[in-house]
Amino acid sequence: MILAIESSCDESALALFDPARGIVRELVSTQAAEHEKYGGVVPELASRMHLSALPWLLEEFRGDLPAVTRLAVTRGPGLLPCLSMGVTLGRALALATGRPLVGVNHLRAHVHSVFLPRHAQDPAGFLAARAALLPHLGIVISGGNTLLVRLGEDLSMQVVARTVDDAAGEAFDKGAKLLGLPYPGGALIERHAAQGDVGKFAFPRGIPEKADLRLSFSGLKTALRYQLEKMDDAQVQAALPDLCAGYQHAIIEQLVAKAGAALDRSSYRSVGLSGGVANNRTLRQRLTNASVQRGLPMFLAEPKHCGDNAAMIAFAAWSEPDRPADAAPAPSLTVDQP
Ligand code: KG4
Repeated sequence: MILAIESSCDESALALFDPARGIVRELVSTQAAEHEKYGGVVPELASRMHLSALPWLLEEFRGDLPAVTRLAVTRGPGLLPCLSMGVTLGRALALATGRPLVGVNHLRAHVHSVFLPRHAQDPAGFLAARAALLPHLGIVISGGNTLLVRLGEDLSMQVVARTVDDAAGEAFDKGAKLLGLPYPGGALIERHAAQGDVGKFAFPRGIPEKADLRLSFSGLKTALRYQLEKMDDAQVQAALPDLCAGYQHAIIEQLVAKAGAALDRSSYRSVGLSGGVANNRTLRQRLTNASVQRGLPMFLAEPKHCGDNAAMIAFAAWSEPDRPADAAPAPSLTVDQP
C-alpha cells in the first residue's frame, strides 16, 4: 500500500492506494477561499497553511500506517515553500516507519491520473489493459501548465506540445479577472458561457497554423482587454454570457485543434485529459469527440482528480519505477526519468 502526500500549490492532500483495490482513502484540504482574497496563490501563506493542514490530515490515516509499504510525495514542479512541507512530512514518516520514500513529478502524475477509474474497474487486469493503450496522448491542462505529452510503451514521457506563454487555466483566470469575476475564474466563465452565444464576440486563436503544435493564450487575454475597453460597465454586464462564451470558445478551439493535429501527426492508441481545466464540461466533450472521431478511446480524469490531489501521486508512484525523493527535480517532462 502506498501513502502519498501532495502539497505543490494550494491543496494539502493525502491518499492511500492499494494496488489490489485502488484508492482506499483520500483527503484534500483546499486553501482556495483564503487565496481568493489576494487574487492568486500567495506562496508564504500557502506554505503556512500546509504546515497546519498536513498533520491533521495525517491523523485520519494513522490507523493505516502499519499497512503502508511505501511512501510517495510530490517533488515538483510547484511552489518551493509548499513542496518543502510535503517532502519534510514524507521524510519524517519514512524515518518513523522505516518505509522507503519516492519522489513523484506532479505533471507525470496528472498524465497517469486518467487511468485511475480503469484500474478501479479491474485492478488485477490493469497493467495488461494499459499496455494495450500505449502510446497514449496525455493532455494536461491546468492553472500553471498546458501540455500534450506522449506516454510511450516503456512509460517514458515526451512533451509533444506546450504553451509558449500563459497556461490555458491562466487564460481563464486572467480573462475572468478582466471581466470582474473572482479568482480562480475558470469555472465561473464556464457557468456564464452556458447562457451565452459563442458567435457574438470573436477572439483570436493563438497560433492558428496546423503544422505548428505550439499553443499561445496571451494574445487572447489582450484581445479581451481591448474589447472591454470599448464597452462601459453596463454593456459588459449585459454581454457577460456572450463574452464568456466567445472567450471560452477561443481557448477550447485552440486546444481541440492542437490536440487533433498532434493525434494526426503520430500514432496513438488512446487519449487522456487531466488538470484543473479538465473540469470544463465543454472541453471534455469536444476532446472526447476529437478522439472518438479518430477511433481512439478517451480517458477523462474524474472531476475529483482534475485539481491537485494525492490519489494521482500514489497511483503514479505505483505506475512508475522507483526513484529517490532526493534526486534533483527535473526541469521538464522531456527527460524519461524526472
Ligand atoms: O490543476 P489546478 O487545480 O491547479 C493549478 O494548476 O494551479 O487547476 C486550476 C485551474 C484554474 O486556472 C481554474 O480556473 C481552472 O483550473 N478551472 C477551470 C474549470 N475549473 C477549474 N477552467 C475552466 N473551466 C472549469 N470548469
